[in-house]
Amino acid sequence: IVIAAATAAETLAACPMAGMGAGAGGDDPLARPAARELLEADAAPKPAPFDPAKVEALDVAAVKADLTKLMTDSQAFWPADKGNYGGLFIRLAWHCNGSYRTWDGRGGCDGARQRFMPELAWPDNTNLDKARRLLEPIKNKYGGALSWGDLIVLAGDTAIESMGGPKIGFCLGRVDDADGTDSLELGPTPEQRLVAPCKAGDGNCEQPLGQTTMGLIYVNPEGVLGEPVPEKSVPHIRGTFARMGMNDLETVALIGGGHSFGKVHGACPAGAGPGPDEDPKNPWPGLCGTGPEKGKGPNTFTSGFEGPWTSTPTSWNNEYFTNLLEFGWEKHKGPGDHFQWRPVHKAGRSNATHGEPPAVMMLTTDVALLHDPVYKELSEKFAADPDALTTEFGRAWYKLMTRDMGPRTRCLAADKWTPPAQPWQMPLPDPPATLPDFAAVKADILKSMHTQAKALPADAGADGRPSYAALLSHLAWQCASTFRRTDYQGGCNGARIMLAPQKSWPENKGMTELRAVLQPIKSKYPNLSWADLIVLAGTAANEAAAGAAGAGAFPFCGGRTDADDGSLTDVLAPRKYINESVAIKDVAKVRGLPLNQAVALMGAMRSPSQAKRMGYSGAWSGATGVLDNAYFKTLLAEDWQKGKSAAGKEEWAAKGKPGVFATAADVAVATDPELKAIAQGYAADNAKFLADFSKAWTYMMNADRFKGPRGSACA
Ligand code: HEM
Repeated sequence: IVIAAATAAETLAACPMAGMGAGAGGDDPLARPAARELLEADAAPKPAPFDPAKVEALDVAAVKADLTKLMTDSQAFWPADKGNYGGLFIRLAWHCNGSYRTWDGRGGCDGARQRFMPELAWPDNTNLDKARRLLEPIKNKYGGALSWGDLIVLAGDTAIESMGGPKIGFCLGRVDDADGTDSLELGPTPEQRLVAPCKAGDGNCEQPLGQTTMGLIYVNPEGVLGEPVPEKSVPHIRGTFARMGMNDLETVALIGGGHSFGKVHGACPAGAGPGPDEDPKNPWPGLCGTGPEKGKGPNTFTSGFEGPWTSTPTSWNNEYFTNLLEFGWEKHKGPGDHFQWRPVHKAGRSNATHGEPPAVMMLTTDVALLHDPVYKELSEKFAADPDALTTEFGRAWYKLMTRDMGPRTRCLAADKWTPPAQPWQMPLPDPPATLPDFAAVKADILKSMHTQAKALPADAGADGRPSYAALLSHLAWQCASTFRRTDYQGGCNGARIMLAPQKSWPENKGMTELRAVLQPIKSKYPNLSWADLIVLAGTAANEAAAGAAGAGAFPFCGGRTDADDGSLTDVLAPRKYINESVAIKDVAKVRGLPLNQAVALMGAMRSPSQAKRMGYSGAWSGATGVLDNAYFKTLLAEDWQKGKSAAGKEEWAAKGKPGVFATAADVAVATDPELKAIAQGYAADNAKFLADFSKAWTYMMNADRFKGPRGSACA
């Protein structure tokens, strides 16, 4: 749509977006030997190549019909509890998606990395290999049209619907990963220890980790560090569900709605064997019972707890909440030798007057819902109003399953299977039906590049003229660089940098004033969105600043639109890391940039006036308006001395060049061995720098232009 509607020549060249989902270039920074070694225990088949046309044609209703049949077709290798696999498939889908965390958008079922190390070996995923094995015939039947990610989510959805729960909408188009690389930061791995430090065995892990304990999806079911004290679990539950992006209402609906189905498994204290680290083919050989039924059916050991939450574990209702509130709960050690809770009559009632309480149980984390005023009130609401539970559980489940997919525009055949966009998908208005003449817009931008605006003084240009080049490039970068390949959030489409909260982020100081430079152009073209104008201004600034080498190197693809609401984007704010080199490397991965391209982008024009607004004494160069590899040459040639600016900012002064300053991130590029090697390459070769810079820039400016799971509106 976008390109066809545009009018003018060179700015409208189609954006080179091939391979967008996999990053900007072929040189994959994730392919390090250490990471690969960790994946050797991977026993899953490699995915069929992703073919959007096939996926788009998938008959989701037919897959659900096959799943409905499977649900009650008990197999001898893993007999279904009460003849129904529903509980198992709901847990499978929940654990596949429950790894999602808002901090960096990592985790979730898009990619279906639960099949691979490290998620494969999480104690919380015990026996989910059986659930996937049950699904294999359906996977084989539909082949490349049905990814493991879509199948797992559909198995959970179908389980809920087939047992009488809410009807769940579906976003089609998860793309399977070939290995578990993208989950390495979820741990336990060396990568996780750098990005989200928390030791295995510690039960108090904090954000960035989504879970309190390595290897769990969220919290320890038995209580904090296994201590069965429900009130202590409350902050852990609230904290970890918030890290997944869930509020109290969604949290209570999910825990109680989920535990309306199925049971926990811990038939005896013997356990379930060592896990896939030691035996990928039979990772959890159950050790309870004897003979052919050893370790399965009634002898299953998964978590070590035992029993159902309700008397109807294969039917949807609100009995979980009525049980929770009607009875008192007494802790005891179950047959699996773990603390769990059994119902007892409350004061004034007895077995003699009310009969035996039902044969159900609760986990410490379930009982915790009674020990917080908000959780308790919500539990009372759901106990009194089953329809409210159906509605809220349905909504929260869809969010749980879909959150990592990003905007609804990534869902395939959405008109057939997908509900309308939800607020957490941060929908954007449609772009204007006709787009402005971008060549004319660009000419106006170039004219105003050197004209002082009152609201924000220009920098001193290298050619002696005032210059907004660095500032405009910076604005576009600040706008687009929030993009995360991990959950497809962020980016400049929507121009949320103009709205709260982003406009007030310290990193965006001065950017609102820069609007005044662009306002006359915006007013001149009625169909011009701020988002297109910001991206085009930064792109044109780079192109002009690169001189002859910039011609054709900075294609522009219009058609963005402006959001009217910027809320919910707090999660995209810059993250804190243990040091700058870890930050540069991890942020590159989250954005989907190969490391060399992330380093190339560090060589962008810097605005000395912007550096001062941010509290520094200056930037690495006193003048601006030229885009070349001078940054890398200066960085590597100078001796940097650590100090503080008048505003108290840590900065490094160049000993040999008065007035030249570097930030901690710049110094990391000059000192971290990997980053320095890349910087040396760029210092020695301006053409290579410009080629990589323009490739990375074009990727970042267009990475949020979704059309289908891996497609781009700019392709
Ligand atoms: C089972 C813990 C939240 C759905 C289990 C089991 C544990 C557990 C220990 C037993 C696994 C086994 O032994 O087979 C927790 C904790 C939660 C939580 C600590 C959060 C505080 C959820 C949520 C859902 C869910 C949000 C879904 C919306 C289920 C289902 C089962 C289950 C359906 C039964 C599995 C089966 O029948 O095989 N959970 N869970 N749980 N969980 Fe949760």
